[in-house]
This record gives sequence, structure tokens and C-alpha cells, in this order.
Amino acid sequence: MHDVVYFEDVYKAYNDKMALRGASFAIPRGAVSGLLGPNGSGKTTSLKLALGLLKPSRGAVLVLGEDPWSEPGVRASIGYLPESPIYPRDARVSTLLHHIARLKGASLGEAERAARLVGIDKLMGYPISSLSRGYLQRLGLALALLGEPELLLLDEPTANLDPRARVEILRLVRDVSSMLDATVVISSHILPELQEVVDYLVIISQGEVLDHGPVEELARRYRARMLYRVSTPNPRLLARDLIVLHYVDGVMLGEDSITVYVSSTHYRAFEARLEELAGEGLVEEYRVETGLLGEIYEAAVSG
Ligand SMILES: Nc1ncnc2c1ncn2[C@@H]1O[C@H](COP(=O)(O)OP(=O)(O)OP(=O)(O)O)[C@@H](O)[C@H]1O
Ligand SMILES: [Mg+2]
Repeated sequence: MHDVVYFEDVYKAYNDKMALRGASFAIPRGAVSGLLGPNGSGKTTSLKLALGLLKPSRGAVLVLGEDPWSEPGVRASIGYLPESPIYPRDARVSTLLHHIARLKGASLGEAERAARLVGIDKLMGYPISSLSRGYLQRLGLALALLGEPELLLLDEPTANLDPRARVEILRLVRDVSSMLDATVVISSHILPELQEVVDYLVIISQGEVLDHGPVEELARRYRARMLYRVSTPNPRLLARDLIVLHYVDGVMLGEDSITVYVSSTHYRAFEARLEELAGEGLVEEYRVETGLLGEIYEAAVSG
């Protein structure tokens, strides 16, 4: 059992309201995954089930191989950033961090390190009430990182942030998770900003999982465009060669590479062309960077 989060036919009712109806998905170890769906689709419910804060009405939830409701010990391996965290506003940043570190059995050194990782180490002596929204979210992330979690569950980590702070937080999540080797689930209903962060998707709507899988695979399945990163000794020349192909939608020049938007219906032809160009020395290597989430999502939802 290698999946970090595993839902099988999960139902969750709140009184007579059915929030999840037969949700099944699996998130593999190491993925930075997006749990995507509109308001009320069941994202927060899914995260709370994974954390063991809620009991499924029916079906199986396994996290790191254990049932988080009946084995709450597994929570020690999960970092959670709630949707609307509530902090003691008069406390200093350091006081809260140290307090939570103690609760999680983490050292003060680890608390300092988490603060450094998210860039709030200079604010340790400040009262929490003085932090901007972006820095409050960084604090929430630092708290989630305490105790060396194997899994991070982040519920709308960019809610209420301005566009720049959104991008900063998501880059931070990506960098920190790869540094700590953690599996990450980010819930969101804002697709474009997740584009450069997630490599795995769970698409949810009205309590049902419409699809899940690696972004690249879903892009092919739904014929969404894909982004390739191609290393080359001559970006300009290569771009000129590729842009004339009818299935190439756009090219962005980098210093020693180019990024190419390719219609996924033609990815085989595109890769064959890259192989030819590699033979001529114009392509060094290439990889699929991602698929366009917005297009995948639209296609999955319209079914
Ligand atoms: N405690 C509760 N009691 C009753 N209904 C609830 C409760 N919590 C959630 N719901 C309902 O369950 C459904 C799923 O809610 P959930 O919070 O999981 O959605 P979400 O995808 O996180 O939405 P959002 O994007 O608004 O955060 C919604 O219809 C919501 O109104
Ligand atoms: Mg929610």
C-alpha cells in the first residue's frame, strides 16, 4: 500500500446533507496534489476525514496505511493548515510556535527552523495581531511543518491573499515540500495559481470525485494542452522551427531552454519531431512540465 491518502467509496453525511457521495481516489507518496472543486464540493470535508477529525458515514479512509479516525496516532505524521485558522492574537509569534512545537514533540530548534523556512524568523518577537494576511498564512504553514510531517493537508492556503502573496505561498509550499520530502494536498477552487505547483489532481464536484491522476496523464485524457520544457543550445532557432507546427500553440524563450504549448492530441508527433531535432543537435533534452489545469478541469466537469 504505497498511497499516502486513500479513499474508497467514501460517503459523509452531515445530518441529512450528503457532503461526499462515493468518493474514491488515491494520492501517491511524494505528490504535490491539488484537490480541486467549487465551493461546497466537499474539499474541507475530505481533508477533515483524512485528518481523522470526521468519521466517514460509509467507506474506507486510509492515511499512511492507517484509518485516521480509529488510529488517531497517525495524526502526528500529518501537518494541517485549516481553512480559517484561529490564533491567539496577542501572543507573540515565537510563543505560539514554541507552544505548538512542544505539543507535537518537536524541539525549539525545529520551531526556529520552520520559521526560517517560511520566512517569518525576523518576526518571532512580534504579536500575531501585527502580521499581514500573507504572513499569517506563512505562520500557519510553519505550524503545519512542525513535527516533520510526512503529509501536509493545506485547506485553501491562498484564500484572502493578494495575487502576489498567493504565488509566494504556493512556491513556498512547493519548495518546502520537496525539501522535507513530504506529500502535499492543497485544496483550492482557483485553478491558474496551482498550475505551476501541483503534479497530481483530484477533481471533485458535489461530493463526487470526477477524476484523479497525474496532471500529465489527465492532460492527455482530456486533450488539454501540455507544456514542454526543451533544453537547447539555441532557443531562438529551435523556437522558429517549432512554432510553425500546427499543433504548437505558443513558445516562450528561456536562456538555454524553451517552453512549448502543445495540443495533447499531437504529443506523439511533437515528441517525434523533438527526437529528430535531438539528432541534429538542436535539442538536448525535453520533459513534459505540466498540463493546463483549467482545460483539464473544464473537460472533466463537462464530462
Ligand atoms: N458541519 C456541517 N454541517 C452541515 N453541513 C455541512 C457542514 N460542513 C459542511 N457542510 C456542507 O457539506 C458540503 C461540503 O462542504 P465542504 O466544506 O466540505 O466544501 P468545500 O469544498 O470545502 O467548500 P468551500 O470551497 O466553500 O470551502 C457543503 O454543502 C456544506 O454546506
Ligand atoms: Mg472548504
